[in-house]
Amino acid sequence: MIQCPRGTRDFLPDEMERRRFYEGKLRETARTFGFREVETPIFEDSELFILRSGPNVLKELYEFKDKGDRSIALRPEMTAPVIRMFVNNMSNEPKPIKVFYFGQCFRYERPQSGRYREFFQFGAEIIGSATPQTDAEAIATASAMLKSLGLKDYRLRIGHIGVLRQRIADIGVPKERTAEVLQKLDKKLYDEARPILADMGVSDADMEALFELTETVGGTEVLDRVPGEAGDWLRQVVSYLDAMGVRDLEIDLGVVRGLDYYTGMVFEAEAPALGAEKQICGGGSYTLSELFGGEKVFSTGFAVGFDRALLALEKEGSSYDFDGIDAYVLCVSDDVRVKAAEIAASLRTAGVSADIDFMDRKMAKALKFASSARARYAVIVGARELEEGCVTLRNMATGEQTQVEIDALAGAIVRARAH
Ligand code: HAM
Repeated sequence: MIQCPRGTRDFLPDEMERRRFYEGKLRETARTFGFREVETPIFEDSELFILRSGPNVLKELYEFKDKGDRSIALRPEMTAPVIRMFVNNMSNEPKPIKVFYFGQCFRYERPQSGRYREFFQFGAEIIGSATPQTDAEAIATASAMLKSLGLKDYRLRIGHIGVLRQRIADIGVPKERTAEVLQKLDKKLYDEARPILADMGVSDADMEALFELTETVGGTEVLDRVPGEAGDWLRQVVSYLDAMGVRDLEIDLGVVRGLDYYTGMVFEAEAPALGAEKQICGGGSYTLSELFGGEKVFSTGFAVGFDRALLALEKEGSSYDFDGIDAYVLCVSDDVRVKAAEIAASLRTAGVSADIDFMDRKMAKALKFASSARARYAVIVGARELEEGCVTLRNMATGEQTQVEIDALAGAIVRARAH
């Protein structure tokens, strides 16, 4: 038997319905905040991701040569493609440009719970604006999205990568080795960072001060310990967020992010219930457009890890009510089959979702099938009732049966649905 490739999943109808429901919530929220949807190709020229994504993403890139010997990569994330799209097609539009996207990304990681090789991101970018309010708008959108899913237990941490980059430069780390140092700080691997920094001639005192900086964590009171203009910037971000009712957040200068393109504010949301793979959302401000042949344009964005957010909901015991169908049409005898098909068609035309038995099941079995299809009503078509222009309508929840004229059938089901 051929299975789906490692780190990928099939989504069966129940799961798919649940996913679409939550995707809809995110979509609604994005629209509420004034974002419009875009879509980019699932694969791109590898160069797009190689230019600035950083070592973490590169070693996980799904990269191959196509039949024309071009270097192609499956997208590991969607910010670079969206900015390419902006440079190619949208750079003259009035700013800021607010777009959102939903789609699968690919990273050659070691699969485990919450970590897949094919996973879904729901993201948003605000392109062409660099103000504390822009940053606050992105964070507020992300926070509203997580809330719209019904997620309760998550932490929102806001930092500033510019502060760490500046400090790293000040203590003498060469530019091309910044990513390597940041990677260690991201995972708080200070013991691994020490020899690397020592090798670059960084003094012990500078190293410890750097580690202390990444440990600047707490409520808004720690903003006083954020050096330079970044402290003031973050203070403004926080006050905009406060005005928008987003107050459940922490300041954490240890938020480093795995991607290399961030320049200023960075943020992450994590759901503690998820254990190792608890990061459900990440983002920040960045510039990429100048790498893709455009002018330098500042942007802020984020992406919700859709699969992880759903896992977190499951862990919180949040339940989802399946839609089911309005009606399941079944026949008492073979001679009414054509008429039953006609009745099902008329229900569908009237906007009533209807399925029909064509497996020749006996009544009891057909009713059982109707209930497994989560039908709210069974429409039982029998020769005797047909003579009077009627069918039997069975409420699947109560078992109650009534005789209904065919012409009034759709109306009866629609009226009951409204109650
Ligand atoms: P990222 O943090 O690399 O950021 O990914 C965003 C989210 O995708 C993560 O927080 C995580 O929930 C989810 N994710 C990442 N890798 C996997 C995986 N292997 N399996 C399941 N979920 C995963 C970005 O990709 C940026 N483009 C976000 C952004 C948008 N920054 C600015 N604009």
